[in-house]
Amino acid sequence: MNAAIASGMDAESILVAKGLTRSFSGFTAVKNVDIKVSRNTIHSVIGPNGAGKSTLFNLLTRFLEADAGTITYKGADVTRTRPAQLARQGVVRSFQISAVFPHLTASQNLCIPLQRMAGFTKVFWRSTVCMSEIEDRVADLLKRFGLSAYAHVAAGELPYGRKRALELATTFALEPELALLDEPMAGLGIEDVARVTDLIAAQAGGNTIVMVEHNLKVVQKLSDVVTVLCRGEVLAEGPYDTVAEDPRVLEAYIGH
Ligand SMILES: Nc1ncnc2c1ncn2[C@@H]1O[C@H](COP(=O)(O)OP(=O)(O)O)[C@@H](O)[C@H]1O
Ligand SMILES: [Mg+2]
Repeated sequence: MNAAIASGMDAESILVAKGLTRSFSGFTAVKNVDIKVSRNTIHSVIGPNGAGKSTLFNLLTRFLEADAGTITYKGADVTRTRPAQLARQGVVRSFQISAVFPHLTASQNLCIPLQRMAGFTKVFWRSTVCMSEIEDRVADLLKRFGLSAYAHVAAGELPYGRKRALELATTFALEPELALLDEPMAGLGIEDVARVTDLIAAQAGGNTIVMVEHNLKVVQKLSDVVTVLCRGEVLAEGPYDTVAEDPRVLEAYIGH
């Protein structure tokens, strides 16, 4: 049996993890977790505080080493692949803490991933090759993410919601086959939540998104599939409306 079949991979799945386990000094934060992410879906991971969501996220993006388990991406075993290499294979993660360069403008922040993708090694202001093409793409991204008016504003000066939009724009600038978002709504006000929700929904066609998110209204609105974690284990999985009615899920949330 080849690795892809052994991992439970099928034509629809892009990422499959099996038996993922990770402990910290004897405390098991993620315990024997199986997760299968289908292409072109938004798959959310929810659960009470301390459930192991961030740990699972870090395991899936290879920022943390698993004690046990396997990860298969597009049929290939990536259990030991380094994060940078995974990124080159189309897996891009955004960070819960804003990862934009504060002293660069919104435009300049978007130039960086685009140039990296185009294979530039020089800093962009010295490069002239394909510059107009990159400028067009930057303009398009700024527009799509509601940032056109902020093109020349330093990222550090942006209102928080726009900074988050810029961070998402830099994530999606790389045209990831699989984007992993860690709490994209964290710290956002109500209006920004609505806008960022729409931005993510707009990326969904043709992209696969795995999202850890606290805001259950957002999860309900965006998700095709929801995995509920509790105490490091998968408690339930399915469409939001189904898992939200699951008595074990309700108890896990109320218990908290
Ligand atoms: N680096 C670490 N060292 C020790 N304990 C950790 C570490 N990371 C997470 N934990 C513990 O693992 C559990 C799950 O944490 P986490 O994955 O951050 O949960 P969540 O994101 O669902 O709130 C928590 O009890 C947390 O204290
Ligand atoms: Mg967390």
